[in-house]
Amino acid sequence: MLHTKSHKTLQIATPSELGPVTAEESQLLEKLDLTRLPRHVAVIMDGNGRWAQKRHLPRIAGHRSGTQSARTTIETCARLKLEALTLYAFSVENWRRPKTEIDFLMQLLREYLRKEMPLLQKNNIRMRFLGRIDELPMGVQNDVRDAMEKTANNKGMVLCVALNYGGRAEIVDALNAILAQRNGHGTSEKVTEEQLASHLYTEGLPDPDLLIRTSGEMRVSNFLLWQIAYAEIFVTETLWPDFNRARLLEALLEFQKRERRYGGIREGEPSDEKPVRAAGH
Ligand code: FPP
Repeated sequence: MLHTKSHKTLQIATPSELGPVTAEESQLLEKLDLTRLPRHVAVIMDGNGRWAQKRHLPRIAGHRSGTQSARTTIETCARLKLEALTLYAFSVENWRRPKTEIDFLMQLLREYLRKEMPLLQKNNIRMRFLGRIDELPMGVQNDVRDAMEKTANNKGMVLCVALNYGGRAEIVDALNAILAQRNGHGTSEKVTEEQLASHLYTEGLPDPDLLIRTSGEMRVSNFLLWQIAYAEIFVTETLWPDFNRARLLEALLEFQKRERRYGGIREGEPSDEKPVRAAGH
């Protein structure tokens, strides 16, 4: 995969960076602490089919409408200065869908990359793709490579699109990459968590601290299995094409209400013992 490690200092946005906001968005923004946003948000964009069905439209109309929600989410997260946003666009399981729907989704992605390049550049977004990219149709592979190359020097948010992605496949790919590196060196050293993480598609990125899933399903669907170990999970009934900026701000607010303990105890909770290990798991 083409990507580089990111070492970033924390950037903090001001509300004005979002441009004009609605009254509802303004109320939500007032409550949001812009210094305590998640570093990395991951999204399972679900419910396009149901959105279309409710309107007696073909499923593909739901996917097309979903690209508008993707656009809003991408631009808002970039302007809020998140370090990374990962969108689950196509899973390894999605090949089971009808060929016409698969072809449409691939075309939609290619169209998106072409049309939205000015918006990506304007917002200083760097693109990465997570998944078995070399198994995608050649045209998609070319566009993916092109989008990464065109945005490679951008220093703002990293936008990861998970494409032909599976969480188990990713861990298997990481292990195989480690084995391939060791080949011929005869080492029998144990693989460490750090080593495995550095061979994942997300190498160099912070783990998502917030996972958003739209349309109500309580599943993680083989998405970033390793990386979401400590993520806060926010499930909303909103269908993906209806997921607008106000719904995103609500998810960020909910994240700020949660207390993150990483397996330890609440900060300030009385305890006369020292922790046995520095980082709780
Ligand atoms: C899930 O809805 C959605 C997908 C499998 C595709 C998501 C893709 C897009 C929104 C296209 C744009 C992507 C980018 C990154 C520009 P579903 O079809 O499973 O809905 P259902 O569960 O209601 O049937």
